[in-house]
This record gives sequence, structure tokens and C-alpha cells, in this order.
Amino acid sequence: MKHSAGSPAPSAEIVQAAAILASGGLVAFPTETVYGLGADAEDPAAVARIYQAKGRPNDHPVIVHLAPGADLDYWSSDIPPAARQLVAAFWPGPLTLILKRNQHIPDAVSGGQDTVGLRCPSHPVAIALLSAFKGGKGGVAAPSANKFGNVSPTTAQHVRDEFGDEPLLGAVLDGGASQVGIESTILDLSRLDTRGPVLLRPGHISAQQIADVIGLLPGQPDAAAPRASGTLESHYAPHTPVLMLERARLADSLAQLQAKGRRVALIVHTLAAPAGPHVTLPATPAGYAYGLYAALREMDQSGADLILVETPPQDAEWLGVNDRLRRAVFGSSGIMEALLRS
Ligand code: TXA
Ligand code: MG
Repeated sequence: MKHSAGSPAPSAEIVQAAAILASGGLVAFPTETVYGLGADAEDPAAVARIYQAKGRPNDHPVIVHLAPGADLDYWSSDIPPAARQLVAAFWPGPLTLILKRNQHIPDAVSGGQDTVGLRCPSHPVAIALLSAFKGGKGGVAAPSANKFGNVSPTTAQHVRDEFGDEPLLGAVLDGGASQVGIESTILDLSRLDTRGPVLLRPGHISAQQIADVIGLLPGQPDAAAPRASGTLESHYAPHTPVLMLERARLADSLAQLQAKGRRVALIVHTLAAPAGPHVTLPATPAGYAYGLYAALREMDQSGADLILVETPPQDAEWLGVNDRLRRAVFGSSGIMEALLRS
């Protein structure tokens, strides 16, 4: 295994994981956002195993993860200066760029679209794996390491909970809890000439931070925007219904539900923690995002009939958190009335 002078030799575990990828297997690995379920992006059969393990429709594109310093021109045929500026500013980090795909990049990673999603994660274990795989010249296709539609995993244990002893999963690398906690910001730069930059998924890197670098504020997705499964309404959802309520209404609603014998789990950030299953998250956007998915998983397992979430602030810095909560809540309308009936 070659490694450049200055960077430490990869551990035996990383060497083995890179070998699993090279032989067409799947490896779950930590990133700073959430854990990914990785396969060789240039091996369509390996990418197909991701879809199979996740139970995900195979026309959904997956993000290709690259080592620091990777050759963008290998992956994309049309790299606007804005893309290089963003790479210089934010990679390694939680920003995915959608670019025109090079012809030799398999359909499997792009869901048949003419674009490819590229990202260089900053987690040291991810960087070690990507640098060891094909000598740092490969790409690892990786969606979040959860079953389709479920909450994304932010610890190795979450991944094991999702996949149990799934025979397709060759290894789970443990890199501790993901520091960002929600998925990367996705920015479409594939139609820069006609639509400008488009924000497909909000995340830790904000539209304003992007505008500060490229001088253009990303717009909202339009009907012709590339399809992204993370943009489905009902995504990132626990099995228990989730409802968001303003602080002022929460105590009353809780009392009503409990009077009907309903079991309620709570996720709060300013309210004093009541008795019963609850998680108190930090009242900062970064701290809240860090704990959100673990809180949803924990409350999902508490046996409650409903997870009540104290509505977070609606300012721009909370966009990523509110986006994920809105999707977790989707499909729960009318649940309050149903639980108060009978
Ligand atoms: O933070 C993240 O982005 C994590 C970690 C593992 O890197 N990955 C992640 O992957 O969230 P996934 O598959 O769960 O969500 C990726 C989103 C999907 O909505 C997918 O449709 C979209 O990115 N995507 C990937 N390639 C795309 C493309 N070429 N065009 C449009 N959307 C794309
Ligand atoms: Mg996902």
C-alpha cells in the first residue's frame, strides 16, 4: 500500500476496509455529517449492493466521496470556477457539489442522470479510507448508512442497529459520533449558466457562506432540478409519529394526551425537562443538529405513541435542522386528534 511521505501509514483496519471496497464489497464508515455505506463508485455491481442493502430504489443517485486533492476533472467534464472556489473554501467538509458527469463514470452512481454528486468529507477515518482506497484516486459511492427512509446514523452503533448481521456489509469502521450530525449541504452547479447555483439540501454550510465565496446566493430547487431522495417529503423519519409544537402549546397538549393515557416522548431545547422519556438538546443550531438524529432514535425506541418536538427557532442558521424535522413530521398530520379521540 503506497502512502505519501508525511501522511501516516494506514492502520491494518483501514487497509482491510480499502481491500473490501476494491473487491466490490460494502464498508460503513464515519463522516463528519453522518455515517455512509460505501462501495467502489466505478463498480456498478458494488453500487447495486448498496441499493440492495438499503432497500433503496436504484434510480436514486448517490454521492461520490473523494480523498483530499482528488482530480475533479476525472469525475466531471465541466467544472465552473465557482466549483473550484467552493472546493478551496470548504473541502474537506460538509458540502456536496452536483456537477456534469464525465462519460466514463457509471450510470449507477448518478441514477441515470447526466450529473454526479461529489464531496470530500473531513472525518479523519473517512480521509484515511479514501486515501488508502486505490491510492487516493478512487471514489467511494456512499449514501447514509440507514435503510431507505429511516433516520441517518450518527454512530457506528446506529449502523449496526440498522443492518444487524447483513451479509453484504463487509465492515463497520467506528469513528465516534459524527460532529455535524445532519447530512451535507447539496449545491447544484450543473446548470449554473441557466439557473445559477441551486440549494438542493440545506446543511451546516449555509447559502450565505456559499454566497460569500462565489458572489451568488443559491436559489431554491425548481421543477427541473436534479432529483434527490433526501428531498423527498417523508425522509429521515422515525417509526413513531413526530409532531412539532410551539413552546407555549406544548405543556397543554402533553397534559391532554397524558389524560387520555397516551405515552409521549419529548425533544425539547428550552422547556424544563418533564418526567418521562425526553431528550434536552442544546439551544444552538450546531449543538441541536449534532444531537438530533440520536435523539429521534432514542425517543423512537422509548415505546411512546408520539414524539413531541418543541419547535426550534426559524432563523436562517436553523434551516438544516428545520428541514430535517419537517420531513420527520411529514405524514403525522391528524395524529394529535386521533390520539385524543376515544
Ligand atoms: O452528508 C452526506 O451527504 C452523507 C454522508 C454519508 O456523506 N450522505 C448522504 O447520502 O446523505 P444520501 O444518499 O443519503 O443523500 C444524498 C443525496 C440524495 O438525496 C441524492 O439523491 C442526492 O444526494 N444526490 C446524489 N447525487 C446526485 C446527483 N447527481 N444529482 C442530484 N442529487 C444527487
Ligand atoms: Mg440518506
